[in-house]
Order: sequence, then C-alpha cells, then structure tokens
Amino acid sequence: MTTTTANETWLAANAALWDARVPVHTDSDWYDLRGFRAGGLALDDIERAGVGDPAGRSLLHLQCHFGLGTLSWARLGADAVGVDFSAAAVERARALAAESGLNARFEQAEVSALDLGRTFDICFTSWGVLMWLPDLGGWARAVARHLSPGGRFFLAEGHPHLFIWDDVPGRDGYRPLHPYFRHGEPVVDAEAGTYVDPALALGLPQYRWNHPLSEVVSALAGAGLRITGMAEYPVLPWQPLPWMTAADEPGWWRIPGDPFPLSFTITATKD
Ligand SMILES: C[S@@+](CC[C@H](N)C(=O)[O-])C[C@H]1O[C@@H](n2cnc3c(N)ncnc32)[C@H](O)[C@@H]1O
Repeated sequence: MTTTTANETWLAANAALWDARVPVHTDSDWYDLRGFRAGGLALDDIERAGVGDPAGRSLLHLQCHFGLGTLSWARLGADAVGVDFSAAAVERARALAAESGLNARFEQAEVSALDLGRTFDICFTSWGVLMWLPDLGGWARAVARHLSPGGRFFLAEGHPHLFIWDDVPGRDGYRPLHPYFRHGEPVVDAEAGTYVDPALALGLPQYRWNHPLSEVVSALAGAGLRITGMAEYPVLPWQPLPWMTAADEPGWWRIPGDPFPLSFTITATKD
C-alpha cells in the first residue's frame, strides 16, 4: 500500500497550478516567445555572468519551466537538458526544441527525486525556484548527484526576506506578514493566479515555503558541494511588492534608496 504524504499532496497541487500557467505564459509579453523565435536569449546579465560561456559544455537546467532559458543556453552552444515537474511545461519545451532545432532535451521530474544517471559540467537554476520546494536537502542532493567533479553550480534567486513583507505598505512603511523562519508547513494561497497577469483568476491553490539564506547554504554544503561565491543585489527581475520601482536597466526592479538586497546568487562546485 502506498501512502500519499502531505508534501506529495502539496507538490501535486503546485504542479497542477504550473500546468495551468503554461498556456498563459507562452502567450505572454513577459516571456516574449516572439523575441526568442527571432533569435533572442531568455537570459539576463546576472545569469550569463554567473554561468559563463557554456559553449561545448553539458548543462542541466533545473525547474526550467517551458524551456526558454534551457533553449537559450543551447543557442549559446551548450548541450542542454531541462527538467520540470509540470507535464504541460515539458510538452511545450519539447515542441519548442523540435521547432528551433536547438540542442536541448527535456525531462519531467520532481527536482528532489531527479536521477538522470549522468552528470553535467554546469547545473543552473534561477528566479522563483526555491519557494516551491518543501525540502532543500533533497534538492541540494539532486544538484550534487548531477554535477561532474569540478563542475559549476549556479543559482540566482529572489532574496528570502522578500517572503515576509505584506504587499500593502502600512502607514509606518513596510509591514512584516509572514515569519522569515518558518519550517515544515507551507504558506497557502487559496486562489493563486499568475505573475504575468495579476487580473487573471486560475482558481487553484499554491503552496510556498520560505528558505532563509543559511538554509540554502547549509543544504548545498551538506550535500558535499563547496561554495565558491555568493553575492547579493539591490535589483530583481520581477516586482513582487508594489512599493518596488522600475530600475534604470530595462526588466529590473529596485526599492528607492536600495535599503536592502532583493536577490542573491550562489556559485558552488563538487571537488
Ligand atoms: C518561476 S519558474 C522558474 C523558471 C524561470 N525563472 C521562469 O521564470 O520561467 C518555476 C518552475 O519551477 C517548476 N517547479 C516548481 N516546483 C517544482 C518541483 N518540486 N520540481 C520540479 N519543478 C518544479 C514549475 O513547474 C515552474 O516551471
């Protein structure tokens, strides 16, 4: 007899939400499929600098959504594999790979359970990935399992303190709503929509977990990876809080005066 755990139930609900988001996202200006089809890259400067030149290297992209980032690495010369747990996302990514003729393949898997039976020169994941994971230990072990000795792991992510703020500022300024330190139980949003169209109701719940920076670093170190770099930035490529404003660089958001970091990156390797 198999027993469904609470985590499995929450992950299945999240996968259903991501399935529902895929057709909306592929048609959105946010993801700019038209620009990609015209030869563009769906990668930003932080991602490009963090990964370096991927030409001729094998690259694993975790939580790749419908594949634009993975296909962009392939366009830069990588032999790329993208992984996502959303069946709709993987189906769309495979169709885009076939259409573009780029050197990328896609697998459907829950990231912590991933076992492709091979390793990669580069393991990459970015922007809006960690909050979907109940357990960073399993995620970090999946990274370590797929990284070749001497390989490069790169993560770019929203800063975990963003999770705590109420998105409506109070009279006295920013108000904390959720605890920074929260273990086990997810924050539940009963009716989640999508960041590409806040007016659109999808009628599905989402389950999110905040992971303090110390937890991210400890999970990677605990999986046997050696942290080689870490950085924090006052910018973010989306606007989770209405009191953020557009930065000078197109596509980036900041808080006037840059009072605290909005994003971070980690680079690690396997000895
Ligand atoms: C915000 S996207 C991140 C990718 C990229 N930054 C983007 O915006 O397209 C998050 C992706 O993580 C995937 N995802 C969420 N939880 C997952 C899990 N436990 N295992 C594998 N994929 C997961 C979702 O299906 C979604 O495609």
